Amino acid sequence: PQARIAIDRTMLVAPINRRIFGSFVEHLGRCVYDGIYEPGHASANDDGFRLDVIDLVKELGSSTIRYPGGNFVSGYRWEDGVGPKDERPVRRDLAWHSLETNQVGLDEFARWCKLTGSELMMAVNLGTRGIENALDLLEYANHPSGTALSDQRIVNGTSEPHDIRMWCLGNEMDGPWQTGYLSADDYGKLAARTAQALKAADKNLELVVCGSSGSTMPTFGDWERTVLEHSYEHVDYISAHAYYQERNGDLGSYLASSLDMQYFIDTVVSTGDHVKNKLHSNKTIKISFDEWNIWYLDEHRASEEVNDEWRVAPRQLEDTYSVADAVVLGNLLITLLKNHDRVGSASLAQLVNVIAPIMTEPGGASWRQTTFFPFSVTSRLARGEVLRPRIDVGIYETAVYGAAPLVDSVATFDEESGRAAVFLVNRSQTESLQVTIDVAELGASVIDEAVSLHDADAYAKNTLADQTRVGLRSLAGAVLTDGALTVTLPPVSWSAIALK
Ligand code: AHR
Repeated sequence: PQARIAIDRTMLVAPINRRIFGSFVEHLGRCVYDGIYEPGHASANDDGFRLDVIDLVKELGSSTIRYPGGNFVSGYRWEDGVGPKDERPVRRDLAWHSLETNQVGLDEFARWCKLTGSELMMAVNLGTRGIENALDLLEYANHPSGTALSDQRIVNGTSEPHDIRMWCLGNEMDGPWQTGYLSADDYGKLAARTAQALKAADKNLELVVCGSSGSTMPTFGDWERTVLEHSYEHVDYISAHAYYQERNGDLGSYLASSLDMQYFIDTVVSTGDHVKNKLHSNKTIKISFDEWNIWYLDEHRASEEVNDEWRVAPRQLEDTYSVADAVVLGNLLITLLKNHDRVGSASLAQLVNVIAPIMTEPGGASWRQTTFFPFSVTSRLARGEVLRPRIDVGIYETAVYGAAPLVDSVATFDEESGRAAVFLVNRSQTESLQVTIDVAELGASVIDEAVSLHDADAYAKNTLADQTRVGLRSLAGAVLTDGALTVTLPPVSWSAIALK
């Protein structure tokens, strides 16, 4: 089978904002403790952060990092995590039924972000707390000096303000599992008032109001409309969260998961634009897709990992990802890029150990999951602006989404350097696909790199025992002649081709 793709410079989506390659660190399971932070580890720095993990985070290429939750933030007292470590209280974390030692807090995490070259994106607690605490946290984090809380930060050892630009107004406040969850009306009012107060302190903050925690939420659509009717003029982004998994052995539907993400984005965009027009606003709201990933949630629910014991950093949500999972993740990232005009920011949830591209063992190794590869390569090669290709390809039938195209793709082009990149997935489970891509408009003459993730076993994984079972392969047979790039995509594969 064959496919034809045309890349046309008039099909411009948006200039690339690095925030589309964000990630997420939550105080959950072993993401922070025994993940990024392990003071006794041979590679730990003076703050107790593992340098081997920092190297992997840099290689992954994540930009903005959302922190400290997640469900965790809705019960969090940020003050517990600052000041002398031996005076910090141990608290119960109700979201994940574990103990929080507070040995890592805002100041340490901001230092960690600097070491990884990432931007800190902060969430405030609107579950058990409200406007005053959000303002206090902002003062502590961002005010230069000369106020009670900024001076406390300085006494605690951080003289320069953290200058955090992006702030989330709570987390998943539509979810009954969320501590202090609210109706859309109540949350919309609280979010609007909190946003107004935060912007009175700093009008240049970028604020994210909570959208739906999934497109299957019963309030999906109505939630966005109501929340935005209250808060539209005070916020800059509305969040979206989506997790995917293979169900009932239906790999075909699973490989087409990005169709749900597209539906999610289309719905939120049209709802946001409806509110914009209703309010006669000049502003266009963007989406912060600040939780997206593969998550075998059904299995976690069944295994009851959250038990009666109160433990520090228990192993929770530690999914091991397959080649197929990595192909789906690569396709979700293609979808985010194709919608980058409206999806301004995104966070892969999460970063280390907890549904994560990076795994660690206490006192031991750190390694890349299969999903690490499409993310790191896309983050590295995508430069300049996003172009939406025209794709002419056959379809296959799926039980969940009906007809789905066999191939999905997005391209990027950097006019200044003349470099381009094309990212592709082949969703066929049985057939290699020969794809001819018209890249004449990009003026490239050389294939700089051509890599692919695929395997004879679509369920192959990297594990503690075999950390390098799956990795990138070179995409054999890619040819560029007279503006026509020809590649053969193996079944169930994700590929990237860089041109110059
Ligand atoms: O990422 C894991 C959890 O998923 C987050 O804490 C929560 O926001 C979402 O439900």
